[in-house]
Amino acid sequence: MSSPVRQIHLAAHFPGVNSTTVWTDPTAGSQVDFASFEHFSRTAERGLFDYVFLAEGLRLREHKGRVHELDVLGRPHTLSILAAIAAITEHVGLVGTLNTTFNEPYELARALATLDHLSGGRAGWNAVTSSDAFHGANFRRGGYLDHADRYERAREFASLAKELWDSWPDDGVRADASGGVFLDDGVPSRVRHRGAQFDVDAVFDVPRSPQGRPVIVQAGDSADGRGFGAEHAEVIFSLHTRFDDARAFYDDVKGQLGAWGRDEESLKILPAATFAIGDTAEEARERSREIALSQVRPETALTYVEQVWGSDLSGYDPDGPLPDIDPDTGAETAKGWANRHASARKRVAALRELSESEGLSIRETVIRLTANHTFVGTPDRIAAEIDRYVQERATDGFTLVGHLTPHGLDEFADRVVPLLQERGSYRESYPEGATLRDLLGLPAARRVPAFATP
Ligand SMILES: Cc1cc2nc3c(=O)[nH]c(=O)nc-3n(C[C@H](O)[C@H](O)[C@H](O)COP(=O)(O)O)c2cc1C
Repeated sequence: MSSPVRQIHLAAHFPGVNSTTVWTDPTAGSQVDFASFEHFSRTAERGLFDYVFLAEGLRLREHKGRVHELDVLGRPHTLSILAAIAAITEHVGLVGTLNTTFNEPYELARALATLDHLSGGRAGWNAVTSSDAFHGANFRRGGYLDHADRYERAREFASLAKELWDSWPDDGVRADASGGVFLDDGVPSRVRHRGAQFDVDAVFDVPRSPQGRPVIVQAGDSADGRGFGAEHAEVIFSLHTRFDDARAFYDDVKGQLGAWGRDEESLKILPAATFAIGDTAEEARERSREIALSQVRPETALTYVEQVWGSDLSGYDPDGPLPDIDPDTGAETAKGWANRHASARKRVAALRELSESEGLSIRETVIRLTANHTFVGTPDRIAAEIDRYVQERATDGFTLVGHLTPHGLDEFADRVVPLLQERGSYRESYPEGATLRDLLGLPAARRVPAFATP
């Protein structure tokens, strides 16, 4: 007997502060005008996506004393944008990245529960720990929590948020005018939490929201990050996009779910995917090359290597070989987007190996690393590839990252989505009244036991 066709889930990543976004394109629009968010969410809804996704960057990145070009005007506040999008859309989910390192659980839980009410059950929270110390300088705690402590805080944060959301029963507001009873005794229940990170005695002020709890998304790839995902996340946003790598990630994280009493379908894995579409394979390759060249302009390539080397490399030719000098290992590379935990020396060695084995210039090396598009081909070919990943359990779908604001997903929605539908693995319409949890095929929110106190 053949197994049922697995359904593809798609999220729409608003183009923003990352090296994928091309702001120099003459058709590129504002990253802060509401018109951009409106266009983008309407496209996501036309394409029947599960959700619109906003990343978070809490501090403008600086390079040699200047704000990095891709920060443009920075990122406006996630929750305000999502609340505005909620008012102009009907079905699409609304997922915002909000970190667990600098926020407080009570305040964030009430903001997210509010969004879930405002949107009729479409709210989601990408709970990240945020990657480096430099964000901390913007906050009063000023500080730096090391990796393990950030994840300890994240686990306790998510557990406490769930306790707060669960402190109201379903239909908790009785409002029985004839009997004169507004709330039953003991509703909502008091949350007393004493942990290593938080000490809270709370009565939660937002009644249970349409989804019970907003959907929790996670992005973070270390063992601690994956563990946090297996315990709390209902969706993971990963960078594991190449087929074998995606499948290994899927097996690893889904393999950890049993320990938390969860099954495979209670967590969806939607890695980032970039794309270039053409009428022929050749045209798509040309398009991909064109996009890559505008994503990695000569000065972008130099900035990238300067951040890895930690020194001024402005004398180097981006079309020439990589610098033959050693990196400045004393410099703080954590301030930039090139930071990926590995030491500068290790990163330089990896760049050299790639560049030397294929005879690549500085710019071509950076293109290979940051602008190697996931899906390049005709709409038919791209639909077949996406379907293969999902049917063969390498992913549950993708978080699509277009390169243009705000119309970067238009072509995908209009040309690829209909072909996914023809394959029988993508919805034909939104089910009436579906919550984000329903769209993702997630089980109802289970009430959780209180976080184990030390
Ligand atoms: C795909 C992906 C997307 C991320 N997006 C954000 C983001 O928008 N804002 C942020 O502050 N951190 C973001 N992070 C960083 C994570 O919050 C995390 O701090 C970082 O990856 C370090 O944790 P790890 O060692 O477990 O990967 C992202 C990480 C990944 C892997």
